[in-house]
Amino acid sequence: MAAERANPLREGLRLAPRPVPCIMVIFGATGDLTRRMLAPALYNLARERLLPLNFSVVGVARRPLDDTAFRRLLREGIDSHSRSGRVEAPIWESVVDNIEYLPVEFGDASGYRRLANRLAAIDRERGTAGNRIFYLATPPSAYPEIVENLGAAGLGRSPEGSGGETRLIVEKPFGHDLDSARRLNARIHQVFEERQVFRIDHYLGKETVQNLLFFRFANGIFEPIWNRRSIDHVQITVAESIGVEGRGGYYEEAGALKDIFQNHLLQLLALTAMEPPVSLEADAVRNEKVKVLRAVRPLAGAAALAATVRGQYGAGYVGGRRVPGYREETRVAPDSSTETFAAARFEIDSWRWAGVPFYLRTGKRLPRRVTEIAVVFEEAPLSLFTRDGGDRIGSNVLVFRIQPDEGIALRFAAKQPGFQTAVRWVTMDFRYGTSFGIDPPDAYERLLLDAMLGDATLFTREDEVEAQWRIVTPIEEAWRSSRAPGVPLYEAGSWGPPEADAFIERDGRVWRRP
Ligand code: BG6
Repeated sequence: MAAERANPLREGLRLAPRPVPCIMVIFGATGDLTRRMLAPALYNLARERLLPLNFSVVGVARRPLDDTAFRRLLREGIDSHSRSGRVEAPIWESVVDNIEYLPVEFGDASGYRRLANRLAAIDRERGTAGNRIFYLATPPSAYPEIVENLGAAGLGRSPEGSGGETRLIVEKPFGHDLDSARRLNARIHQVFEERQVFRIDHYLGKETVQNLLFFRFANGIFEPIWNRRSIDHVQITVAESIGVEGRGGYYEEAGALKDIFQNHLLQLLALTAMEPPVSLEADAVRNEKVKVLRAVRPLAGAAALAATVRGQYGAGYVGGRRVPGYREETRVAPDSSTETFAAARFEIDSWRWAGVPFYLRTGKRLPRRVTEIAVVFEEAPLSLFTRDGGDRIGSNVLVFRIQPDEGIALRFAAKQPGFQTAVRWVTMDFRYGTSFGIDPPDAYERLLLDAMLGDATLFTREDEVEAQWRIVTPIEEAWRSSRAPGVPLYEAGSWGPPEADAFIERDGRVWRRP
């Protein structure tokens, strides 16, 4: 399945190429992810005329629906969740006939034979040329049996002589620890080669996350100071004001460490800290991310307990509204010790970063939704100016606002107007909204399009996902050990447990309050 233009990223320009014809088979097609994310993303790609000219969707799930009911379900999902608003009839009509549904029990081999027959028929009827993408949007427990059954039905490869490509998109969470991720990789590889596998971390599809690479490597002035000589520390925050939103059952198993830390936060760390790649090809970028993830000093046992903090939200007020505590949420144990907040200090053992701590934190029911990376520079070596009579004036901070209010701000010291000699901190501020004035594509639009184009740059590679688990699994084990203190509670609407403040203050630093 080739793109119409070969890797135009290398030329510094990507002209939104259209993928060649293909079929997207969505497992878990009646679930939340399909309704909230995949249907709106595919619709918006159709709206932007970025879908292949011949494109089909086959929804697969257990529920006994017919095509009409499935199409209605997708349409409702688009109406409620698309960034472009309610469905526009002409666009919907241009795609609706190419959407169908096949009820299959995931463990039933005959269902996959029916699927194989149906895909062959679509290839003949609509010229999709053996190009298939299987999207696993099911609970992760179903991944192994779906993959095995796809293999048994001969669906791991495109039909002989078709010249088509078969790809597999796998949603997170990819495993629940290092061992299970390895086992899952091994089982997938019994059917699919690594080049066919696209592991989703939707943060990589966000414009502002992709912009990290552009900012770092399209500008000459930052790279010389992007290291231990100029940077004091880095803070990466993924704060959410929402709670677990009815996903208590899933979250009880996951917790903040597996839900956000293992994937989104570590990806942000990797993109901030990686060395320049030799090109923008998928493997060149991913090689550098893997290298830096492997250089993160592992935290285990007592060291893990000393360098991390967790917490769980109790009842409180968020946005002026009273909200229940985590243990009162549905499908959450009344004595649950699952963390809804996690913070850690990592050291990266490399020449670039030795001695520069990376503080990462995430939490639910914090005061506001904000994801940012703050690069805090060393203070000026000699203070000619004082601030409020003190002898320290503070330091420059470069903040990547990943969401919301997307942009980049640089804080610097300026002379306060007047006759006194006083320093004031001001910011140079870039905002996507004002500079570009366009509504950027959602992460899933970008990722689905890239998977159709066969560009894996924004997907997590096998060794990358394992490197992430290698960091997170020993921390979880330390938390589960008998020496670990209990999980402190924090009030919903606060910035996490007081222990988190004490933790960073011990290093002589403070968390930002974005
Ligand atoms: C998901 C997590 O991966 O990311 C959710 O499972 C979380 O718990 C979500 O709410 C946050 O994504 P975003 O794009 O809203 O920052």
